[in-house]
Amino acid sequence: MQIFGVDIGGSGIKGAPVDLDRGDLAAERHKVLTPHPATPDAVADGVKEVVDAFDWTGPIGLTFPGVVTHNVIRTAANVDKHWIGVDAVDLLGERLGNRGLTVLNDADAAGIAEMSFGAGRDRSGTVMMLTLGTGIGSALFIDGRLVPNTELGHLELHGHDAEKRASTKAREDEDLSWEHWARRVSKYLAHVEMLFSPELFIIGGGVSRKAEKFLPHIEGVRAEIVPAQLQNNAGIVGAAMAAAKS
Ligand code: BGC
Repeated sequence: MQIFGVDIGGSGIKGAPVDLDRGDLAAERHKVLTPHPATPDAVADGVKEVVDAFDWTGPIGLTFPGVVTHNVIRTAANVDKHWIGVDAVDLLGERLGNRGLTVLNDADAAGIAEMSFGAGRDRSGTVMMLTLGTGIGSALFIDGRLVPNTELGHLELHGHDAEKRASTKAREDEDLSWEHWARRVSKYLAHVEMLFSPELFIIGGGVSRKAEKFLPHIEGVRAEIVPAQLQNNAGIVGAAMAAAKS
């Protein structure tokens, strides 16, 4: 079975039909840059452009980089604040036609995909997926069941919003060496470990492709730490999986 997945991120909007049996894209994904400012209307246009690149008329799952409860966007740390309070299914339904839309947090979607098809497959107990990208996203799983909207990227770390210190954007903006950035990530992981004691951390986001550059420098963390396996497609796959379930 196939469902279309769209991943709305701070830097790009990307989508593709997903083969749900294989947990992989069924066609090469299409990507457009996230508009700036990333207002609801501008992002909706981008999503439409991505979907229109395919001949797709069925249901669509979409991720959003903020808290989503009952389709309503509650936070917007890295996109335009006009999103707050918007019913994303209503808004996107107007553009895309009402055809079964499901919206969920981006890290939750990536985590769902990793737990079924990637680094978290067959893992029970407490598993924490963290996506280190424009922001930091988190997805907490207890025996494979998601606790949605955990937002651990906004924990306070040495007086700062953690994602402002340990995201990929922070590494790039501040031009940090991998070692320097890994020290910050270590402190962040240790803090999350102090609160939740996961058995496994799955590190996602584009940086999961460069795990060898920073994982060897992570210290002071008990839990096993592994890179995500679906890499940058996890959000698209997880969005489609969520749409298939709803
Ligand atoms: C948002 C989260 C999101 C993460 C990754 C954070 O700033 O608050 O909801 O999952 O960025 O995009």
